[in-house]
Amino acid sequence: MTLFDVYPLFDINIVKGKGCHVWDDHGTEYLDLYGGHAVISIGHAHPHYVEALSRQAATLGFYSNSVVNTLQQQLAERMGHACEYEDYSLFLINSGAEANENALKLASFYNGRTRVVAFSKAFHGRTSLAVEATHNPKIIAPINANKHVTFLELNDTEAARAELAKGDVCAVIIEGIQGVGGIRVPDAAFLRALRTMCDETDTVLILDEIQSGYGRSGRFFAHQHAGIRPDLITVAKGIANGFPMGGVLISPKFKPVHGQLGTTFGGNHLGCAAALAVLDVMETEHLVDNAARVGARLLEELRALPGIKEVRGEGLMIGIEFAEPAQELRRRLIFEQHVFTGASGTNVIRLLPPLCLTTDEADEFVSRLRKAMV
Ligand SMILES: Cc1ncc(COP(=O)(O)O)c(C=O)c1O
Repeated sequence: MTLFDVYPLFDINIVKGKGCHVWDDHGTEYLDLYGGHAVISIGHAHPHYVEALSRQAATLGFYSNSVVNTLQQQLAERMGHACEYEDYSLFLINSGAEANENALKLASFYNGRTRVVAFSKAFHGRTSLAVEATHNPKIIAPINANKHVTFLELNDTEAARAELAKGDVCAVIIEGIQGVGGIRVPDAAFLRALRTMCDETDTVLILDEIQSGYGRSGRFFAHQHAGIRPDLITVAKGIANGFPMGGVLISPKFKPVHGQLGTTFGGNHLGCAAALAVLDVMETEHLVDNAARVGARLLEELRALPGIKEVRGEGLMIGIEFAEPAQELRRRLIFEQHVFTGASGTNVIRLLPPLCLTTDEADEFVSRLRKAMV
């Protein structure tokens, strides 16, 4: 059997990681400004994480969701405290798409409606409703095109008002900061207006914080910069530093019904041990503050560079937009400067490093970017 060829791959075999660095099988070291697509939150192979996962694997890797799992309870408590949503409850699954599927399902159970408002350039995942709410017709198969979703321009308050006034919208789903769409930050005023309109029309407000959450923006959640509280918040990526896990944070207005939601693997013992270790490290190493501080410096330095059209973002979620295609620059960064970055469309380079990035590493990146740009 061979692999189903769905990804255009760089011919590099990464075999080892430490902090914000990875190594290939020839021993070449790379600076990781990509974090394996925003997944590595506390850094590669953090000793506390390694120890916690190894201990859990040696004790109990998995048991079913039909029995009490105190690790899940601890995780809900610790996460609620860390993100200041202590009154919310937590449903655990295995990926970002699954988190959004369950959030949309909960919303529809709640108000009985079926229409969804999403935004231009949104990415919410590749399954069923998550992909339908993703603004990319190329990845929506005919079986997913079920006309549930209306796309509006980001930050167009009047368009959102007109759509929600129809009174039949189940949920508005919006990223805390658009990631795949090229690092686009929704206006705080727009988020606040959405919150009010959703309240007025009994529409569920879902904040997809899968890429922008878990400290990346310099607050635990990007929407917290705008001071709003959504009804549902979805998380994944950085939650367990690479162990597949997703979650939905659920406001007290939703009442659980046995059997409505469920999963075999979600919230398994190994995943919870990984997620608890992530919270330990985020706390002891003050990684949310670090993302704010190092991110602010990086944004400032990048904005001072010539030859760049625009630099967007918050904390350690940064998009560098060029006037021309940036694929060749990204290749040079990898193969000549040994730096991993992400891409978005043709012209944007995305930075999604581990949240433990130091100022020295940030400066080193800027220096290598300069060299790659000449
Ligand atoms: C904002 C956002 N939502 C959802 C997803 C889907 O997550 P997953 O790939 O874990 O299903 C992603 C993945 O990139 C994302 O960036």
